[in-house]
Amino acid sequence: MPKDQKKLKGLLLAGGKGTRLRPFTYTGAKQLVALANRPILFHAIDQLTACGITDLGIVVGETKEEVKAAVGDGSQFGASVTYIEQSTPLGIAHGVKIAEDFIGDDPFVLFLGDNILKEGIGRYVEQFRTGCHNSLVLLCPVDEPQNFGVAQLDGDKLVRVIEKPKDPPSNMAVIGIYFFDAHVFDAIRRVKPSARGELEITDTIQRLVDDGLDVRAEVISGRWIDTGKHDDLLEANHLILEDLEPQLSGRHDEASTIQGRVVLQEGAEVVNSHIQGPVIIGERTRIVNSFIGPFTSIYHDCLVADTEISGSVVLEHTRIEKVGHRIEHSLIGRNVEIRGHQRRPHGYELILGDYSKLHTP
Ligand code: DAU
Repeated sequence: MPKDQKKLKGLLLAGGKGTRLRPFTYTGAKQLVALANRPILFHAIDQLTACGITDLGIVVGETKEEVKAAVGDGSQFGASVTYIEQSTPLGIAHGVKIAEDFIGDDPFVLFLGDNILKEGIGRYVEQFRTGCHNSLVLLCPVDEPQNFGVAQLDGDKLVRVIEKPKDPPSNMAVIGIYFFDAHVFDAIRRVKPSARGELEITDTIQRLVDDGLDVRAEVISGRWIDTGKHDDLLEANHLILEDLEPQLSGRHDEASTIQGRVVLQEGAEVVNSHIQGPVIIGERTRIVNSFIGPFTSIYHDCLVADTEISGSVVLEHTRIEKVGHRIEHSLIGRNVEIRGHQRRPHGYELILGDYSKLHTP
């Protein structure tokens, strides 16, 4: 049956370790860190369902209970979700291999659950669905290609793909959104674990190329972020907030000013404060006597009092009070307490977890 008459499935990878995002990932899945108050993984699911891809498999690892609790059966997204358990993170291609029963012989989109593609995937879904290629790989020029899978092209033909090469043959990173047909399973069976002990998706793509199959590469036009590191999270938060649709479901008093694109989610409360969008304030979060500046997301059940904060992400159940200097460009986790006081002598009383960072003026 031609591909365009088949329904594409979606396979999301939400396992792995998340070591680079510590300390956030000590207590939770990296794919569930919220950007613009929505878990990163949900943004990926949204992009798939927006293209009519609703039959989704999610590969889960040691944080499986948390991911299952958040995503459920997929009905909140208008999708149906099948969970595939990966007991050890043996590589992205291993995640695909164990999904073979779920995929069957359908073509599919593989979406790494920590990738954000600003423009969405609609154009590429159409290209793959209607084309006769076996795989479509998306590329994006980057400054540090040695941190990614890197493609070598001959014109628009993909010649070679190498995982995190010391000496990259180009600046074209392979992004974490790939299109395959069922040939990929045969290729994976012939891939050997890499030096880091993983079945690499890049080696799998190389096999498809070496087998003479039709593997296309397309350079994306929009912004892409692999949210693997702290700075990338802040950048991705910024990217999503650029398109924020204002909505004031929460309350603000008359002494407060709300400027620019601001979302106050259900039960949020702003008292005697200035909010300068784009900003999103989560459910039941209270902002009191404070300034919240552009590109800030404050998640559910937080308190920010007598404090200025901008360009930052604050996760749930966190309290920030009476901090004397503006908090900028910061990532603050769940259940954190930051409290200053106005009396002298000024000083710090700290309880910081392993790998925390405190940069003060
Ligand atoms: O983001 C693009 C890059 O993603 C590509 O350029 C690389 O070629 C590709 O290998 C991958 O590199 P990363 O180092 O970013 O992969 P990471 O280990 O962070 O895993 C990506 C996602 O897949 C992450 O959400 C965790 C999940 N994962 C990973 C492994 C190794 C699993 O679910 N199971 C696994 O076994």
